[in-house]
Amino acid sequence: MKIHTIATEPFEGQRPGTSGLRKKVKVFQQPHYLENFVQAVFDSIGDFQGQTLVVGGDGRFYNLQAIQTILRMAAANGFSRVLVGQNGILSTPAASNVIRKYRAYGGLILSASHNPAGPDEDFGIKYNIGNGGPAPEGVTEAIFEQTRKIEWYQTVECDDLDLSLAGNFELAGMQVEVIDPVADYAELMQKLFDFNAIRSLLADDFSMAFDAMHAVTGPYAKVIIEDILGAPAGTVMNGEPKEDFGGGHPDPNLTYAHELVEILYGDDAPDFGAASDGDGDRNMILGNHFFVTPSDSLAIMAANAHLIPGYKNGINGVARSMPTSAAADRVAEALGLECFETPTGWKFFGNLMDAGRVTLCGEESFGTGSDHVREKDGLWAVLFWLNILAVRQESVEAIVVEHWQKFGRNYYSRHDYEGVDSAAAEQVLQNVRDQFATLPGQMLAGRKVGKCDDFAYTDPVDGSVSTNQGVRVLFDDGSRLIFRLSGTGTSGATIRIYLESYEADADKQGLDAQDALADMIAAANEISGLKQLTGRDKPTVIT
Ligand code: G6P
Ligand code: ZN
Repeated sequence: MKIHTIATEPFEGQRPGTSGLRKKVKVFQQPHYLENFVQAVFDSIGDFQGQTLVVGGDGRFYNLQAIQTILRMAAANGFSRVLVGQNGILSTPAASNVIRKYRAYGGLILSASHNPAGPDEDFGIKYNIGNGGPAPEGVTEAIFEQTRKIEWYQTVECDDLDLSLAGNFELAGMQVEVIDPVADYAELMQKLFDFNAIRSLLADDFSMAFDAMHAVTGPYAKVIIEDILGAPAGTVMNGEPKEDFGGGHPDPNLTYAHELVEILYGDDAPDFGAASDGDGDRNMILGNHFFVTPSDSLAIMAANAHLIPGYKNGINGVARSMPTSAAADRVAEALGLECFETPTGWKFFGNLMDAGRVTLCGEESFGTGSDHVREKDGLWAVLFWLNILAVRQESVEAIVVEHWQKFGRNYYSRHDYEGVDSAAAEQVLQNVRDQFATLPGQMLAGRKVGKCDDFAYTDPVDGSVSTNQGVRVLFDDGSRLIFRLSGTGTSGATIRIYLESYEADADKQGLDAQDALADMIAAANEISGLKQLTGRDKPTVIT
């Protein structure tokens, strides 16, 4: 095998964001662009000679071409084996599982998650380490530094490998195993959940719909929910992964998963509805005419984990990202568990899981997961809920309302302003920061402001510090207003405003979240000057 060393020059802006490097497909299609990044990864992750790499993606446009490039570069750089999903497919949680199960050195996951796909849309790549989780900041920064001084990359010349057939192949002296993307994952799910109980539930007078949104979870959901658990054919909607995700925006929330939402809020609505995103790590849970906020979902999972075989011996602790509501904190307190508040981004949970401090983690951004892998996991969350429903034999709504009665309700909403001018977005946050000294002690939205800060986090395991993780206005009664800029968008800036208010009184827990939070929403606009600065009078997305 002849290794080719190709001369190249750095590209601007190859810094991995919240979840890897995400850019327009056209950017990735520039000669050497992908190669530079992949070589920078290989140059930053230590000694992998003779080791295994996992490669797979969410099936979006450019997935297959990128995989061929990566295979050639992996061979040239000295990996002895690559495990790659058949047809290039691996959902993000499934990739995390494969890395762990086969003790791979790490993995390259090709996805831009819930961002739209197609020739004019987004592509992405991220590196996950040997524990199956996203590379920590030390590694992603090293990769970025490497992209700024790169002079060459290594590859081999050979034909593309046919990824449509599972089996063992050889590529320029490197072993390539094309694996069934679903089998290992389905096996893991059967170890965690009571499939017999869920099978009986689905055979009963219980109906559900799962929306794969034309993205990667289609094949997983069809095998697990329809074939293994016996739900009727058609339970999985939009189950064929498409290169452009059917032209949609596969983000499972009330705005983008409207097809499913209309079914769950329509006549003859099923008992349960769920959706997952482009790469299969996010989830949305719905009942009949009922939406479960991701923050509540995490809290309810923690409170009911003892009902699930994989967690029946108790959980170690719970973690949530800072903007996620404090609903889970109350459950942790009642159960005597440790509870952690981390910056946004799943990577912050990895150390806590590896150290055995937490079992369940969740984020307001429709992510929930556990230490079974090191990514959030959409279908896992769906099966978790189905298992709870199978044991409790109550409706989704009844379970949530009962939870509020016991623990109180954290009214919660997030308002997003997408595609805003970056300078204006920065100024919105700065306006709030400028009032850090004057707001405490003042009354705002009928509540007394306690403390204001820029959220910073010290990782209790490795002591690393992350600063500027969100602008917070914290009230004495536990209510919170949080302002943050998205780290995952690819055009302009997205301002996220997170609103939370706690209600202990069961008689006052039945309001619509937007009504209950109306005064907080007004206060957020007032102190940030958002409308004047951005010219927007309403959010792009409300979740
Ligand atoms: C990705 C990450 C999540 C994170 C989310 C936040 O989905 O995997 O862990 O919560 O991005 O995105 P944002 O756009 O708010 O930075
Ligand atoms: Zn995702």
